[in-house]
Amino acid sequence: MDTISAIKMRRSVRNFSSKAVPDKVLFEILDATNHAPAAGGYYNWSFIVVKDSGDKELLANASYEQEFVKFSPVIVIVCSDSSKLESDFGEENGKKYALQNTAAAMQTMLLAATTFGVGSCWCSIDKEKAVRNALKIPEEVEIHGIVLLGYAKRVEPMVSKLDLGNITFFDEWDKKVRKTSILFPLFSKLEEAAKELGKQIGKRRVKKVVSKPIRAKQKTKKK
Ligand SMILES: Cc1cc2nc3c(=O)[nH]c(=O)nc-3n(C[C@H](O)[C@H](O)[C@H](O)COP(=O)(O)O)c2cc1C
Repeated sequence: MDTISAIKMRRSVRNFSSKAVPDKVLFEILDATNHAPAAGGYYNWSFIVVKDSGDKELLANASYEQEFVKFSPVIVIVCSDSSKLESDFGEENGKKYALQNTAAAMQTMLLAATTFGVGSCWCSIDKEKAVRNALKIPEEVEIHGIVLLGYAKRVEPMVSKLDLGNITFFDEWDKKVRKTSILFPLFSKLEEAAKELGKQIGKRRVKKVVSKPIRAKQKTKKK
């Protein structure tokens, strides 16, 4: 599957079949995740893979009590140690980049999963302390979220997306230049259609103008 197809076919999956994700596939997904970009080259992420332990129920409770979480064949807890980022970029930026790095990693994980035909869902943790205690995560390590992995029971519909024309500005905030055809293929198609229509109308007009003297010529010939 090419990258654009994976991006556009990815859906949040919350209904998983009982089919297990083979370890080889899981390894490939995590390996691809590990190739995500990271600010300053500081790779702050680490993963805890929960497959068979009894902690799935606890994770579901710690994730806004979302029941479906516990039925996920694999739950990956995405952790972050921002200490190196903070010492290089300062506390505020270090924390910000740590979050951005793990977000890039999590999105990479979702896309890699899609490529392997594995369904996924990025889920939030609201009871961090419970997860920390149960999985023995050190205090200095943050928990940035969890990713559910498994085979989807059904094909999920696409959630409606924002209109690119409303959220893309040119040169400055709120400056919408809708005529940039490469960025707005639909708009350019309309433009093309309008041009074609214009040409057709133009041709008809030209025909009319041309045909008059011809008819007049023919008439004079007959005479
Ligand atoms: C930071 C973040 C947190 C999310 N947390 C949850 C969550 O706790 N539970 C859930 O069902 N989906 C969660 N999602 C998934 C979104 O609900 C989902 O991406 C959105 O509805 C769009 O649907 P799609 O992923 O199928 O395109 C989260 C997504 C992100 C990026």
